[in-house]
Formats: sequence, structure tokens, C-alpha cells
Amino acid sequence: MKLIVTGGAGFIGSNFIFHWRSAHPEDQIICLDKLTYAGNLSTLKDILDAPNFKFVKADICDRPTVYALFEEEKPDVVVNFAAESHVDRSIEDPSIFLKTNILGTSVLMDACRKYGITRYHQVSTDEVYGDLPLDRPDLMFTEETPIHTSSPYSASKASADLLVLAYHRTYGLPVTISRCSNNYGPYHFPEKLIPLMIINALHDEKLPVYGDGKNVRDWLYVEDHCRAIDLIIHKGKVGEIYNVGGHNEMANIDIVKLICKALGKPESLIEHVTDRKGHDRRYAIDPAKIHRELGWLPETKFADGIKKTIDWYLNHEDWWQPIIDGEYQNYYQQMYGNR
Ligand code: NAD
Ligand code: TYD
Repeated sequence: MKLIVTGGAGFIGSNFIFHWRSAHPEDQIICLDKLTYAGNLSTLKDILDAPNFKFVKADICDRPTVYALFEEEKPDVVVNFAAESHVDRSIEDPSIFLKTNILGTSVLMDACRKYGITRYHQVSTDEVYGDLPLDRPDLMFTEETPIHTSSPYSASKASADLLVLAYHRTYGLPVTISRCSNNYGPYHFPEKLIPLMIINALHDEKLPVYGDGKNVRDWLYVEDHCRAIDLIIHKGKVGEIYNVGGHNEMANIDIVKLICKALGKPESLIEHVTDRKGHDRRYAIDPAKIHRELGWLPETKFADGIKKTIDWYLNHEDWWQPIIDGEYQNYYQQMYGNR
């Protein structure tokens, strides 16, 4: 099988490539990535010259280049991870989110129609469902929960999902969609909650918790997400949406305290800062469908996954230090300077 994996130099896409190469070593993978601020070729350095792997630097919105790649490679499967993924950045400037996340998705699917594929898989998010109240722990997102977005990021991802379903109904494109909860693990870009708190704590810097810190996210170890996508590609039903999550709801403040404890740092580093605009209160996925129909279950308990993740950041300063030494400094100042 030959796959084009877009966004494979980012957090989940790179973990997915590592997963797929080890689970299906006979398959060929072409990683298409624009290498935005969030893409790191260093993540893929050990496989760049490997047989069955090719890296192509390109923008999914660049139609002629995408078509030329499909014409040359004739992929069987396309897995689309490429996206602008950070909610805070989408609040500062939505435009690139609309371009990459919506228009880029349509270019990829047009290429799939033109050259023919057996599956187009869209990597989506639980954020398309909006949020849930803290005082109703019985409520969870199912695949039938109406789309109700809060941020420009989630609105762009929801728009892409609608387009994917429309291409299935209108053109018969063989699509699947996965909507996963928050991931954590190796190669997570330092702007996101868990790596940001680990790296700041290591430097004895303030740990900026938005608002009261009681917002809840449903955390899943990245490898479990990658296995779910693998299963959906192999066994999932075309035209279907699958929610992916591990029943692991945690308040942000508890995660930050846990990181302090694991690193032996004082909780006095925690600073409550101005809340995110439109901040979603709680996410919670009901993964019953993917369990029932495809037999998927998460394998990594949060206690083990967070330990592995913290250890990974302790042992891979060579990966994250160049990132935080670069343009990230300006971002951090702009985002947190006067918060
Ligand atoms: P990320 O920001 O770490 O990586 C995104 C990758 O896409 C980067 O390598 C970047 O260079 C590339 N990219 C961006 N714009 C591109 C373009 N126009 N053309 C080609 N490549 C481009 O993101 P992530 O956290 O790995 O998320 C991957 C996907 O999973 C996204 O679609 C996101 O919406 C979805 N998702 C993420 C989470 C999460 O917790 N991180 C949860 C559910 C779903
Ligand atoms: P994030 O990792 O950006 O993921 P998402 O917004 O997609 O869920 O944020 C996770 C939660 O952590 C979210 O409720 C916002 C909060 N947060 C902070 O409190 N401080 C921070 O510095 C960051 C980046 C996030």
C-alpha cells in the first residue's frame, strides 16, 4: 500500500508515520508537509533516507504541486493531518486557518477524485462539537452530537468535515473521519499545554494557567490515536465518523500540578492569567462506536503516558531547545507578555 501522509512533520502526523512504519513495514509512505512553524524535519531525521519513505516539502493548498505529486506517486490512501492546529493562534488571526484547514482539504480531495484513491482519511477533532458543562459529567460527545463550534480553529475543522462528507455524498469519494480528543506525547509542539508547562517548569519559569484552570480536556496518548486511525483505514466503514477518546478527563490545573510534582518544582510557579476568549469549558468523548465496531481501546493509562512524556522531554532537549530559541520567543512574548 502507498500512503500520502500530510502534516507528517508535526506532532501527531510524525507519531503516525512511526507507528505505520513499524506496524506495516512493507508499505510506502510519502510525507507531504509545508514545514510551517509547527513542522520539524528534525523529527523525521532518522527515516529521511529510509527505503519506503519520501519527504516532500509542499503546501496542501498548492493545487498544481499536489496534483503533480498524485500523478507521480498514485497513492492508495491519503491521511490528512496537515492543519493549523493552535486555538490561541486562530483567535489572533483566523485567515490561515481557513485557508489551510478548509481550502487545503478541498485541494487534497480534488486530487483524490482526479487520480483515484481507495481511502481519504480526515483527521478531525472533538472541538467541532463545542463544549460541555462541568456540572453534567453524564454528557459526552457522540458522533450524533450536533456541530457547535467556538473558535476559528474549531470552525475551520468543522467546515472541513462538512466538505469531506459532501465529497462522499456528491462524488462518492471513499472517506472516513476521526474526531479525537486532546493528544499528548513525544514531539508535541511547545506552545501546547503539556509541553509548555514541562519546559517552563524545567526553567523555573511561570506556569500560565488560563482563567480558573478548571477547564477539562479528555487526554489520549498519541500512540493510541495513531492505532485508532490505522484501524479506521483498514476496517472502518466508508462515509463514517469515529470518535476517539480514552475516558480520561482532567482539569488543566490538575495537570499542571502533576507536572510540578513530577519535576520536583513548587506550585508557586503557577500563575493564573487572563482567560482565552471563548474558552471551551469541557470536552469529553464517548468512544463507544469505535470500540463496538472496530474493537479499539486505549492502551496507555494516563499515569504511564504522562511519565513517558515527561521523560521524553527531559531526554530530548536537542529537539525542543532549537524551537524555543527561534521564532517561538516572539510568539511567547506576544501571547503571554501582557497577559
Ligand atoms: P501540528 O500543528 O503539530 O502539526 C501540523 C503539521 O501540518 C505541521 O507539520 C505543519 O508544518 C503542517 N502544515 C500546516 N499547514 C500546512 C499546509 N498548508 N500544507 C502542508 N502542511 C502543513 O498539529 P497536530 O497537533 O499534530 O495535529 C494534527 C492534526 O490532528 C490536525 O488536523 C489537528 O486538527 C488534529 N487533531 C489534533 C489534536 C491534538 O490534540 N493535537 C487532537 C485532535 C485532532
Ligand atoms: P491546548 O493545549 O492549547 O489545547 P486545546 O485548546 O486544543 O484544548 O490547551 C489545553 C487547555 O489548556 C485549554 O483549556 C487551554 C489551557 N491552556 C492554559 O491554561 N495555559 C496555556 O499556556 C495553554 C497553552 C493552554
